Amino acid sequence: MTVSILGIESSCDETAAAVVQDGYLLSSVIATQDVHRSYGGVVPELASRAHQQNIVPVVDKALKDAGLKPDQIDGLAFTRGPGLMGALLVGTSFAKGLSLALGKPLIEVNHLQAHILVHFIKEHNKPVHQPDFPFLCLLVSGGHTQLVKINNHLSMEVLGSTLDDAAGEAFDKCAKLMQLPYPGGPVIDRLASEGNPTAFSFSKPRIPGLDFSFSGLKTSFLYLLQEKVKENPSFIEKHLPDLCASLQYTIVDILAEKVVTAAHQSGIHQIALAGGVAANSGLQKKMQALATEFGWELFIPPARFTTDNAAMIAITGYYKFREKMFSGHDTVPVTRSE
Ligand code: KG4
Ligand code: ZN
Repeated sequence: MTVSILGIESSCDETAAAVVQDGYLLSSVIATQDVHRSYGGVVPELASRAHQQNIVPVVDKALKDAGLKPDQIDGLAFTRGPGLMGALLVGTSFAKGLSLALGKPLIEVNHLQAHILVHFIKEHNKPVHQPDFPFLCLLVSGGHTQLVKINNHLSMEVLGSTLDDAAGEAFDKCAKLMQLPYPGGPVIDRLASEGNPTAFSFSKPRIPGLDFSFSGLKTSFLYLLQEKVKENPSFIEKHLPDLCASLQYTIVDILAEKVVTAAHQSGIHQIALAGGVAANSGLQKKMQALATEFGWELFIPPARFTTDNAAMIAITGYYKFREKMFSGHDTVPVTRSE
């Protein structure tokens, strides 16, 4: 039996819908909300409103691109959380309504699990390169930073998490301090390629085990800027590439050190990246170098699957559908991981 799943994502500032059929991606539509740019970060109220405007056309296009009529969908997967409450409510309510109208099961999806399962999205006419179980995944996004052991599609253990800011947040907050546009991660990545990564050094956190911390780095970055700008008001402008390269180098170093420890402790040598920061060229280069050094097999998703999308929701929904893991219509969104 062919299984077609519609995935809906609305946890933050991307309204997205996608269709996966038997593990193959048929369509993926993302409406990015540019309204937040001028505010230097996501404004929850504006996000909810934009989701309301976007959700019907985005879902409609995803179905049309997939060549399916709504009643040809077997299940409706939606992001239950974590994310912004008002934003999640839009996708959740829409999925419930469609599920009732079509008489098809509703499947709630954890956004973080979905980021990891992008590694199992298959595309027609593209080679398949998927990790075997168990594997380790460094999940690095704007809201989360975790090291996760994946036992199978639906069983995951969080080995370490950030105690404060996420890696993407560190990029974005430091970018804001340098008056760079939001989201700052890709901008820093681009500028870093022209700078010297050892021009400035920042103290690294001493966090035991596999947890992370980025708030100290942000503070020490702020202090450096304040001190230098006092001496020379055009310091940031003059040293932008070096600042970006040094900051990126430190963030990548903090992440890489914990991955090495986790691989060593678990004896697992299949390492995957996921989440928006997985697109960072410095992180990818460092992980490639470590993979060569330690004989790891490395899995880096294509850039279009690293930031928020609905293909990841649909593929997770597909694996849950196979296990009949359905949700009731009384399901409510959650802002944090449960
Ligand atoms: O996964 P994602 O789209 O959203 C969350 O679930 O949070 O990740 C967005 C984050 C932002 O913080 C953005 O700055 C960061 O990913 N990001 C990057 C790059 N591309 C996106 N950070 C560093 N380098 C990049 N190339
Ligand atoms: Zn995300």
